[in-house]
Amino acid sequence: MTNGNLKIPTVALGTWAWGDSGEVGTGYFGSSLTQVGLEEIADRAHTAGFSLWDTAVVYGAGRSENVLGEILKRLARSDYQLSTKFTPQAAGIGAYPVAEMLEQSLARLGTDYIDLYWIHNPADVPRWTPHLIPLLKSGKVKHVGVSNHNLSEIELANRILGEAGFRVEAVQNHYSLLYRSAERAGILNYCRKQDIPFFAYMVLEQGALSGGYGPENPLPAGSNRAETYNGMLPQLKALTDKLALIGQMQGAAAPDVATAWAIAKGATPIVGVTKPHHVDGLVRAGRITLSPDEIAELEGLADAAEVDTRGWWEQRM
Ligand SMILES: NC(=O)c1ccc[n+]([C@@H]2O[C@H](COP(=O)([O-])OP(=O)(O)OC[C@H]3O[C@@H](n4cnc5c(N)ncnc54)[C@H](OP(=O)(O)O)[C@@H]3O)[C@@H](O)[C@H]2O)c1
Repeated sequence: MTNGNLKIPTVALGTWAWGDSGEVGTGYFGSSLTQVGLEEIADRAHTAGFSLWDTAVVYGAGRSENVLGEILKRLARSDYQLSTKFTPQAAGIGAYPVAEMLEQSLARLGTDYIDLYWIHNPADVPRWTPHLIPLLKSGKVKHVGVSNHNLSEIELANRILGEAGFRVEAVQNHYSLLYRSAERAGILNYCRKQDIPFFAYMVLEQGALSGGYGPENPLPAGSNRAETYNGMLPQLKALTDKLALIGQMQGAAAPDVATAWAIAKGATPIVGVTKPHHVDGLVRAGRITLSPDEIAELEGLADAAEVDTRGWWEQRM
């Protein structure tokens, strides 16, 4: 039982950074964001056919959803798909915490349905998964997925939904050249076999793989991502140089190649776009072909960097 088809684009758009205040150096990302810039991102994305927008209640404590809802008012609701999440750690104490959190997301996003609704993490799979069923039945949620779940948790969620005639329709985990745990734990393989789209988040490692940052030009001081990644930038140079070199040969740039790598591995990357030209990079990424040798070389350089980019919110897979 599904509520129509979920359209899976080559790349989905992430808006965690949109939850920051927009001031340089503040918040998780510390990037400068402007209303005009975000509007141009939405327009370019629409023109390029990137229609799936990912957010979560906890990105900037509702701010990302608010900002995204405002920006997308310029488009018809049928022109885009919304993906947002129930975060167990932020659950209220009412009888229906998932339905209540969904209502808040709907209000902030200015809509009456969510195309793809996620359980953000596997805090308690048997407890939270069944709450998705009445939301699917009501039509307020069209499709459901699980994020940050390991293989046995994904299978458990699938069994719980299956008993009600539904299924896990998407999986979303951290997956990048530097962090391939989903592949090593057999999650990509499982998704392929079950025909479940696998969404890869942080394919650019929050900008550390964009090639735009390095020891001389670190991530914005004061931001959380700077704390995580700035110390690793020297080890990442050989990899980002190679990404840039492969890109040059196809009229593309380093981040486009990092994104193309995830596509080549069968994933749908969710890329956090903060500037209009990032959308052009996603268009290029969709056109890049990587040979098996190039993929092996990139993965070899990534392994040689010997960095652990597991997020503080992630369990080991
Ligand atoms: N389910 C989960 O637990 C979870 C966790 C993390 C993320 N996510 C989702 O996945 C999305 C992506 O992750 P993320 O935003 O954390 O990190 P990301 O996509 O790896 O990196 C985003 C950063 O990379 C830079 N960038 C993006 N596109 C670029 C391009 N074409 N060229 C150069 N630089 C580019 C931007 O930095 P500058 O602003 O410095 O240019 C941007 O802030 C999130 O927005 C969120 O929707 C989900």
